Amino acid sequence: MKEKLVIGNWKMNKTFEQADDLIGDIFDLLKGFHKTTEVVICPPSLYLELATDYADAEDSNFRIGAQNCSEYKNGAYTGEISAEMLSEMEVEFCIVGHSERRKYFGETDETVAKKVDRLIEQNIIPVVCCGEQLEERKAGKHFEIVEKQVKESLFHLPANHFEHVVIAYEPVWAIGTGETATPAQAEEMHAFIRSLVEKQYGADVAYNLYILYGGSCNPKNALELFSQQDVDGGLIGGASLTASDFVAIVEAGDTAVKDN
Ligand code: 13P
Repeated sequence: MKEKLVIGNWKMNKTFEQADDLIGDIFDLLKGFHKTTEVVICPPSLYLELATDYADAEDSNFRIGAQNCSEYKNGAYTGEISAEMLSEMEVEFCIVGHSERRKYFGETDETVAKKVDRLIEQNIIPVVCCGEQLEERKAGKHFEIVEKQVKESLFHLPANHFEHVVIAYEPVWAIGTGETATPAQAEEMHAFIRSLVEKQYGADVAYNLYILYGGSCNPKNALELFSQQDVDGGLIGGASLTASDFVAIVEAGDTAVKDN
């Protein structure tokens, strides 16, 4: 089993002072911890410089990601932040296509595909989210929905670019609800996504792809989820806002690899 990746998505939470405290606490807890799990923290954009300062410090054990970027390169797009700006800020990852952005800000597979291109141009790793709504699962359409999202936002990429993306499966009904997908449900969908990638890009690219699970992942359920063959780690919302919970999930990543 390959090493895990755990990404914390803080969403629109924390004052500057609280963010400073949280990232400082995570820094301290991870310092000197010989983990194998790769850790990425995605704070709100205004705190990225604070976060990258921590990530640059000696003994730092994590990397930094953004939660969004513009689909445009630059120009008259008031309020937007470009991939180039993120790159200058030493941001290494960026979440795109999160269901909250699809729901509240009209993000579509087409805009996600453009954002992916902007990020790859800047050598930033896109973390592309996909996942079905509850009604879609109840109607048995979850595979179809996820297939469309994955193909339309990513399959325009040549293999050498696709190698630099991460996919996060986040069933919408599990986000912030306390209702987690069962390990079997997560594994079934992750294996399906990997099979799509294998058909398009071949077995090596598919094997090396990181497919993260997101949706009410916490210190209690992380180990069982991460022990599934095709679950390469997690995209963590609520539990990433408490340093001890987040680090416990990182530890679950290490344990899952050791035990398998
Ligand atoms: P929760 O962990 O709060 O359910 O959020 C998941 C998520 O949306 C991460 O991007």
